Amino acid sequence: MAKHLLSLRDLDSGEITALLDRAAQFEERVDARDRLAGLGVCTLFFEPSTRTRLSFQRAAQRLGADVLNFEVATSSATKGETALDTLKNIEAMGVRGFVVRAREDGAVAALAAAAAPGTALVNAGDGRHQHPTQGLLDMLTIREAKGEDLSKLAVAIVGDIRHSRVARSDLVALTKLGAGEIRACAPASLLPDDDTLEGCRIVTDDLDAAIADADVVMTLRLQRERMEEGLVESLDDYHRDFGITSERLGRAKPDAIVLHPGPMNRGVEISDEVADGPQSRILRQVVNGVKVRMAVLERALAAD
Ligand code: CP
Repeated sequence: MAKHLLSLRDLDSGEITALLDRAAQFEERVDARDRLAGLGVCTLFFEPSTRTRLSFQRAAQRLGADVLNFEVATSSATKGETALDTLKNIEAMGVRGFVVRAREDGAVAALAAAAAPGTALVNAGDGRHQHPTQGLLDMLTIREAKGEDLSKLAVAIVGDIRHSRVARSDLVALTKLGAGEIRACAPASLLPDDDTLEGCRIVTDDLDAAIADADVVMTLRLQRERMEEGLVESLDDYHRDFGITSERLGRAKPDAIVLHPGPMNRGVEISDEVADGPQSRILRQVVNGVKVRMAVLERALAAD
């Protein structure tokens, strides 16, 4: 039975933990090529991507799947073909797994509702809504550094939360896994106006307060492509007030780790020194992305 993964809201803490445990097993180069041997998996991205698309492709290859890549710019979407007709046509070629990135909130769920029984869709990011595998790989990276019990951890999420599907997925995952204290930090113009932050103990525009004695600092990309004009006065001001620099990071615990989902705006939300420094786990997130996506594709499509 194929299983979609559309949002971490749809999983309970046991299911999230099981996916993280399975992903951790893929650290060893276990031979998993029989898991999806002969199955077709298509990366269907209607927005740009480097990490998510390529790590899903890598994950699918390591599971033995046949990988198809849909490039929107050279596809018949440019002639007006709808996303649903695109999906139905690729389904008709015998493909059963789709990894979908869409510009609009809820668009992946709408495609999943119209897909054939036996087809599984994995949400690779829809609008500002959810990016479930990013949430999972962030949790795996935190667990590796800090252990499986998150209840003593203070986690600061800093930056453009308003436009961030990554923050929304991380907040769901951290809450379900029982993180001790979740803090959100952004200028008022980049805070969400819905119930996204209901699990946060602290919501502030004071970066020093948000970061004080934190165990984990998750910094977010300033998503200028989703932003109306004027939400941020200038990039220099933003960096001064919300950029994670070595000096700022010095207020967190000495063994605090720094995460960023990528792509980074260096010198805006994060300095080079921090991005490339000893506390950065940013490339480890990428390593973990392949493992998490293997676990997710296996759950979505494997026969047992
Ligand atoms: N983190 C992330 O989603 O990166 P890409 O947009 O490059 O896939």
